[in-house]
Amino acid sequence: PTNVGILAMELYFPRRCISEADLEVYDGVSMGKYTIGLGQEYMAFPDDREDINSFALNAVSGLLDKYAIDPQSIGRIDVGTETLVDKSKSVKTTLMRLFAEAGNHDIEGIDSKNACYGSTAALFNAINWIESSSWDGRNAIVVSGDIAVYAEGPARPAGGAGACAVLIGPNAPMVFEPIHGTYMADTYDFYKPELPSEYPKVDGPASVVTYMLALDESYKAYKAKASKAAVKAAAAGDAPVPFSLDDVDYALFHSPYGKQVLKAHARVLYNDVLANPSSQLAGSLPAPERDVFLSASQEASLVDKNLERTFISLGKASFASKVEPAMACSRRLGNMYTASLYGCLASLLSTVPSAKLIGKRVSMYAFGGGCAASFWTMKINGDTSEIAGKMDLLNRLGKMKVVPCQEFVDALKLREKNHNVANFTPEGSIDNIWPGAYYLASVDEKYRRTYEKV
Ligand code: ACO
Repeated sequence: PTNVGILAMELYFPRRCISEADLEVYDGVSMGKYTIGLGQEYMAFPDDREDINSFALNAVSGLLDKYAIDPQSIGRIDVGTETLVDKSKSVKTTLMRLFAEAGNHDIEGIDSKNACYGSTAALFNAINWIESSSWDGRNAIVVSGDIAVYAEGPARPAGGAGACAVLIGPNAPMVFEPIHGTYMADTYDFYKPELPSEYPKVDGPASVVTYMLALDESYKAYKAKASKAAVKAAAAGDAPVPFSLDDVDYALFHSPYGKQVLKAHARVLYNDVLANPSSQLAGSLPAPERDVFLSASQEASLVDKNLERTFISLGKASFASKVEPAMACSRRLGNMYTASLYGCLASLLSTVPSAKLIGKRVSMYAFGGGCAASFWTMKINGDTSEIAGKMDLLNRLGKMKVVPCQEFVDALKLREKNHNVANFTPEGSIDNIWPGAYYLASVDEKYRRTYEKV
């Protein structure tokens, strides 16, 4: 199979969100702390009527319905999530109910887990399957989704919720390129050891630095492999040009909140200057600081606020053209954890017309605390207008209900009360579920979950 990539996409998100400006007032913090400090506008949330299974059912059934996909044409489903409701039974098995009626039980793939990175592991698995000798000729679906909720405190405004389903197959309009740069290490920046609680243990400042360090390292690994490939491809005598952000038209980053993405883009520019100190970009740095930045240790550079500010300001125009078009979901929904990066891709397809996207190259940075990260690229070769039309993303985001912050706090209290409980009927109102969507109807005395549709 050639040109393996994305054939179709669907996004699911809750019906309600709150405004981060309202949350600043509600929490009694200084004005601008969430809206400017974190760069967030809204945050989506569900109550106890929704869980990761209902999220995934909605994303996948939406994909199957909107594109009239024959359930028999699917040979693999990989799910990435960190919103576990069961330590053994996978979300993937719940999705099998969507294929049972068609009699398709021959579907490989299962769940992958590591914070926000599980979706990317799932995606790589699906691509590898299609490119492998065990491929049976059918397409794959990759599902990502999470309910990102934090205990009260500075992390709470960085929550969010949503899910994404992507149809993967050959001859796609968006094609994955083969080089991946990956960085994985044993860190304790973000983890969920307390199984009775939905909330993560998060060392906020450490998670921010780990994200950036993993970006440095996966980007370097990508560049080293890209250079090797370029040397091989270059005609004898031609010097290959090293990869830089100039080589992509759009740069997508896992988005816990807008400010982190602003910093990530700036950090990539800093890496480009380190790799090529004679570049035009390096030449535009103020002279006294240039030497300080270029000679700083990685550890020092990661916490150097002046360096960060300088590269953010240097990269303003680049951010506006390469990154901003991919931020619609993040700004409205908040952090969707595993679905965040794929929400960026959905946003890009929804904000830039297909005619302008054809021929363009996109970089992707996936990060999950703990930690796992990859940097890779895609090429848009074909028409994406059908995908944008079927997702109808901006219109649907606009139709969400912006509700008072008390509803958000009450919803989290309901989730806390009913998390891991047997023999209960969720208390949240069905009015807060989109018409036609799946929701959690009940959990019986043996913890078996039942889903129904509005
Ligand atoms: N107006 C404008 N800016 C403000 C204001 C204000 N009133 N108050 C604070 N700020 C700015 C700060 O100056 C700071 O700016 P900087 O990032 O440019 O330095 C920024 O807001 C953050 O403020 P801090 O006091 O540094 O941090 P805070 O206590 O608000 O916590 C954090 C932020 C750590 C991100 C927290 O929300 C958190 O733990 N989030 C969850 C973890 C997370 O998302 N990590 C990111 C990667 S991992 C992942 O995807 C889960």
